[in-house]
Amino acid sequence: MLIVILAAGKGTRMQSAEPKVLHQVAGRSLLGHVIAAAVAADAQSVAVVIGPDMDAVRKEATRCAPAPAIFVQTNQRGTADALLAARPALAAHHGDVVVLFGDTPLLTPATIAAAQAGLTAADIVTVGFDAIDPTGYGRILTDVQGGVLAIREHKDASEAEHRVTRCNSGVMAFRSERMLEVLDAIGNANAKAEFYLTDAVEIGRTKGLRVSYVMTSETETQGINDRAQLAGVEADFQARKRLDVMTGGATLVAPDTVYFSHDTVIGRDVVIEPFVVFGPGVSVGDNVTIRAFTHLVGADKKLNTGAKIGDGVELGPFSRIRPGTVLGKNVHVGNFVEVKGAVLEEGAKANHLSYLGDVRVGAKANIGAGTITCNYDGFNKHSTDIGAGAFIGSNTALVAPVKIGDGAIVGAGSVIVKDVAADALAVTRAPHDERPGWAAKFRTMMARRKKS
Ligand code: UD1
Ligand code: CA
Repeated sequence: MLIVILAAGKGTRMQSAEPKVLHQVAGRSLLGHVIAAAVAADAQSVAVVIGPDMDAVRKEATRCAPAPAIFVQTNQRGTADALLAARPALAAHHGDVVVLFGDTPLLTPATIAAAQAGLTAADIVTVGFDAIDPTGYGRILTDVQGGVLAIREHKDASEAEHRVTRCNSGVMAFRSERMLEVLDAIGNANAKAEFYLTDAVEIGRTKGLRVSYVMTSETETQGINDRAQLAGVEADFQARKRLDVMTGGATLVAPDTVYFSHDTVIGRDVVIEPFVVFGPGVSVGDNVTIRAFTHLVGADKKLNTGAKIGDGVELGPFSRIRPGTVLGKNVHVGNFVEVKGAVLEEGAKANHLSYLGDVRVGAKANIGAGTITCNYDGFNKHSTDIGAGAFIGSNTALVAPVKIGDGAIVGAGSVIVKDVAADALAVTRAPHDERPGWAAKFRTMMARRKKS
């Protein structure tokens, strides 16, 4: 199967400097979602049709694996014209061709498979859905036996046709043999003066081809034309993902307040409290508790390293987990602790108010409140290594690069710029200077001065 994704439309209603298909749902571009669905549906090859001056879209498409072939539609003259921009791919392919739109990110591989399966008994298959409000959609017009006669675009439909609620999703499947012959016969004598791909149905029939349709849900086929629809699709995606996560054995105390990324992996017997946000690239093991207001991101624009939360970990409330974090079994990361590029080995604890960046923390080490790994000198990043069982006292600054040996103790308030040997005590704070009675004398003196 060859899958062609049409994504040349500018999406002017998004009011954005970015092309529509680069906007994101659950941390992945609309186009990324559609390409992923195509790959999951076992497409042998994928082609994407983009507009001119869409280098960013080209880049996003080629970032996907395997990278699809890219074709450019010079002028946006309609969906049939867009498909024909991929003519070399269509001409070279013998077998099934499925056309998808780049702005319908919730489409499932199962629906693509159903459209393809329809081709065993038809030459052209469209995918329909029953719309609550069909305004704007193309309508599937059928005869008394339910056979497809035509797809009528909203702007070209009569009063009676406007009452039809069975709509065209935009997904269309073709047998390759006579596909180009049908596409080349499509004209633009319609309300929008566009070459409509949907006209392939009527033209195919006049040429004696067999045309049928399969059904899917309205949720799955939602297209995005503006930011409100983007938010609506995000909400539907999140609802779907929350259900998956709960079905997989996680408790979401307040599901509507937890936001997942498209690729979040959650284990069994995980409890996620309210208001937790997952960015891309995070996987969570079993028996993990994530308390309220924790934010986890495993991959951002700079780093694509993922974040791995091991079995039995306790996070939050108010923890921030950033790219390149690996938390071993039973690690505790508490409130106002930020972790980045850090490996915390089994049983390590950082319970309060810390920054742990570019560091290894050995098993069972204890990181006191207010500990900071000073990993950046204004020019370069440096690493810190904390041995197993080490105890870092509160309010310690570890100036990287620096190594704290296994079992070492660092006294509270220290600024550590040199390596500390295993099992040693390092303290850098100023000596304690105490003057008996000084405070009382001072107060008496000051009170007298104030009166006079
Ligand atoms: C299309 C269908 C309609 C269906 C609806 C479902 C046609 C003629 N109409 O209408 O039957 O109910 O989708 O959402 O196909 N595109 C290009 N180049 C173009 C025009 C469009 O690449 O010249 C791409 C767009 O980027 C978009 C897709 O094709 O991804 C659909 O185009 P759009 O203009 O949104 O079609 P609709 O009017 O929504
Ligand atoms: Ca559309």
